[in-house]
Amino acid sequence: MGIEQPAPEAERAPRAGAQLPPGKQLSPGVQLPPGAELPSGVQVPPGDQVPPRAQPLPGAQAPRGTQLSPGVQLPPGAPLSPDSRAGVGGGRAGAGALCLADYESLAGGLLSAPVGDFISGGSGAELTLRGNRSALDRVRITPRVMAGVEAADPSGRLVGSASEMPVAVAPMAYQRLVHPEGELELAQAAADAGVPYVISTLSSYPLEKIPGECWFQLYWLRDRAVVEGLVDRAAGCSALVVTVDVPVMGRRLRDVRNGFALPDDVVAANLQTTREAHAAVPGVSAVAAHTASAFSPTVSWDDLEWLKRRTELPLVVKGILDPRDARRAAEIGATAVVVSNHGGRQLDGAVASIDALPEVVDAVGNDIDVLMDSGIRSGTDVLKALAVGASGVLIGRPLLWALAVDACDEAFGLLRTEVTDAMLLAGCADLAAVKGLTWRNDG
Ligand SMILES: Cc1cc2nc3c(=O)[nH]c(=O)nc-3n(C[C@H](O)[C@H](O)[C@H](O)COP(=O)(O)O)c2cc1C
Repeated sequence: MGIEQPAPEAERAPRAGAQLPPGKQLSPGVQLPPGAELPSGVQVPPGDQVPPRAQPLPGAQAPRGTQLSPGVQLPPGAPLSPDSRAGVGGGRAGAGALCLADYESLAGGLLSAPVGDFISGGSGAELTLRGNRSALDRVRITPRVMAGVEAADPSGRLVGSASEMPVAVAPMAYQRLVHPEGELELAQAAADAGVPYVISTLSSYPLEKIPGECWFQLYWLRDRAVVEGLVDRAAGCSALVVTVDVPVMGRRLRDVRNGFALPDDVVAANLQTTREAHAAVPGVSAVAAHTASAFSPTVSWDDLEWLKRRTELPLVVKGILDPRDARRAAEIGATAVVVSNHGGRQLDGAVASIDALPEVVDAVGNDIDVLMDSGIRSGTDVLKALAVGASGVLIGRPLLWALAVDACDEAFGLLRTEVTDAMLLAGCADLAAVKGLTWRNDG
């Protein structure tokens, strides 16, 4: 029912202030904080209920004249102050995180369990999900000293886009699940931070509405006409990122257990329909059912050649782990590859991205850019990826968790601080110096 597109036609709302504009809806994946009242004009989508446990937590009071943001649940005993502004209207000032990794727990208390699982989860036994982290933890950098550096400069270029940090926002589907303005909010914060934003094929706002320096991520769909339409619509983006590691969706058991389905008002706004993704069936992941019907499992190198002929945008191939595949992508004319296991969401047991990176860099690093993602949670992780040979990284979940607590600006600020701190502590004035660092695997 009621699932046909298009998505909400909202014009870009003013970014200042975290209160929902009149008529805006709470994101379906967001639970109201205990004791919170709905701002006037905010509608609860059908089926979403104010939790019966909506009692104020001890010590949690909004300062006079402010309203709790609907996207924030206060930690027990945490008084709000006008300075911290955690969860208060104007919450774009931050959620009180001290580091990028903090957003996981901040968002965890806020999102409904199925949405939290959809974001955090991996496939199968989640070996690769955990392996991404343990592999990054094993990488150790040998810092340089006496470099005489007063300020580190992490700016550079990523796939032809100017970037204030060697970072881009990973493509992530359905961001309206966690924030009413979803992609609009995260992309604007990325633009303000000078960081490219990758729009997912499955974005919940139409790609034309998403602000800033954007790359478009393409999933290979069964319907070639739809692929062609998306490629044409993405012509104004700065790069085309084709994701090649989803011939079928990995079995994400959390979604299966939860019978996860999209609420009616979160849609794949670039596509004609996402009907299957809304069909809640116990023991079935509706998003996997949608993928099975819409995505082409037979995507091949011939398709990449076709795509290369079809677009003038720099072509980025995301989801490469084997150096032979990286070589093939480079031969076809890709501008970059992303060494990625999809954040542990596809083949469970796949090698950790950071462990796959050195061989891919050896194979193609002199010819094309090699980006990396999966498991990056801090500025030191960014430093490690660059020292191991990446030109830059994509960051996924931490930014979605920051979006959930309406703290995207704070998150980019923290990330920049973490990156520059790591550079200073390693004696690096710029990214060229970072790439010259030596590292070892402490496993
Ligand atoms: C909720 C969620 C949705 C995602 N949606 C997409 C997508 O639409 N297209 C895509 O290429 N990758 C998608 N990914 C994978 C990310 O682009 C990226 O590879 C991964 O999240 C990186 O790992 P990290 O989350 O540990 O940083 C998604 C990941 C998550 C967590």
